[in-house]
Amino acid sequence: MFNKEVYVRRRKVLIDKMSETAPEGNRGIVLFLGNAEAPAQYKDNCYNFRQDSSWLYFFGIDRPLYAAVIDLDDGKETVFSDDVEIDDIIWMGPQEAVRTIAESVGVGASAPYNAAADVISSARRSGRPVHFLPPSRYYNTIKLASLTGCTLDAVSEVGPVSSGGGMHASLELVKAVISMRIVKEDCEIEEIDKAGAIGQEMHNMARNNVKPGVMEQEVVGKMEGVTLGKGWGVSFPTILSQHGETLHNHLHDKLIEPGNLMVIDAGAENNMHYASDFTRTLPTGGKFTKKQREIYSIVYDCNEYAFSLIKPGVSYRYVHLSVAKKMLEELRALDIVRGNLDNMVEAGVAGLFMPHGLGHNMGLDVHDMEDLGEDLVGYDPDQKRSSQLGLGSLRMARKLVPGNVITDEPGIYFIPALINKWKAEKADKGYVNYHRLESYYNFGGIRLEDDVLVTPDGARRTGPNRLPITPDDVEAAMSGE
Ligand code: GLY
Repeated sequence: MFNKEVYVRRRKVLIDKMSETAPEGNRGIVLFLGNAEAPAQYKDNCYNFRQDSSWLYFFGIDRPLYAAVIDLDDGKETVFSDDVEIDDIIWMGPQEAVRTIAESVGVGASAPYNAAADVISSARRSGRPVHFLPPSRYYNTIKLASLTGCTLDAVSEVGPVSSGGGMHASLELVKAVISMRIVKEDCEIEEIDKAGAIGQEMHNMARNNVKPGVMEQEVVGKMEGVTLGKGWGVSFPTILSQHGETLHNHLHDKLIEPGNLMVIDAGAENNMHYASDFTRTLPTGGKFTKKQREIYSIVYDCNEYAFSLIKPGVSYRYVHLSVAKKMLEELRALDIVRGNLDNMVEAGVAGLFMPHGLGHNMGLDVHDMEDLGEDLVGYDPDQKRSSQLGLGSLRMARKLVPGNVITDEPGIYFIPALINKWKAEKADKGYVNYHRLESYYNFGGIRLEDDVLVTPDGARRTGPNRLPITPDDVEAAMSGE
């Protein structure tokens, strides 16, 4: 946990922000739910406990079955959870009292978990707005529905609440939380760098073990062992595949063969639950072929170019589109596409090669806060999400401000089914040289990803040591130099 003052200050800021959304006297209450344990088979055999990220941000208590209510009218804060009984102590050992735990994050009042229901009912009976976030876990979906009287669907819908706007998750609360969590504090950046260090060590471990004749799963096990030994675990299920053209390939059942490209997209979550997320693409035999090197170099140039553009005041949508143009320019030099660059960008041709966005927010979640609504998190109010392939998947389009942490992850993929579809539908509007593309059907894919902090005057990559990324550096690192 951070110091108590961090959580006290954050809640104070939240109360101030929420107080602007409704008239004094009937501002209502904010309900936060922490996560419950998630049983893997029977109720006492659970997955590793992972606390809800917004709960962690405001209350820091990394234990299951906690809830809290903040009264926006009188400022009173109460934590709800149950003290353990002797039966629990036999299995779990002695535990601190809920009151003591609540005090450790600056909350003076505590009560049993079920007492939260009375507070919510009383607020509802008095016509007071009840603000809550859309839940990310099914247990909390059910819990919220029973606590608030909303339907199961409605607790995940987001709409205005302050003006008596109905029974659903609170748009005002979502906006307030995003406005805070999207700008990382110094203490958070420290944790992101620590998660970066573990993530980079994972990738070093993987690179040392990618060799022909080794099973992909064995490499995954070794790299995940690094983060299990030093942090909470992985920040998302590891992607490690010689079929990198499948963007999120979680199958690790192949023997590593020479001559392939291995996409490794993996990151760590440290014990404070901050994430890292890096991607490197390795030649499985240790050396790139000429053709692999040509495409790799384009992706590398795009990664560097994106980084060079990142600074406050620039929108990440602009960076995505600028990278799309650079990618097309270099693909045009290989005669894979033909035509005017701006027209190709406008027509969305880059989406055939990079059918995903350039990056996403990262923090307590690897896709930070996307449980609160992708567009609310990633788009400014004056930005509209595109429906084009690629640009439409851009999860962070906002104008950048210092403290944003985002991923920079361009990629080029040759996806036969997609190429065939575009060809049949003439979706490329005549810009793609399909004859030239034929020799890339078995190429696979390449993605190169760093995590980037927006600073007051530009940007810096997070994590202590950037992973080898130039083709020469990758080959040198794989040869043990
Ligand atoms: N790097 C994995 C993801 O962005 O989902």
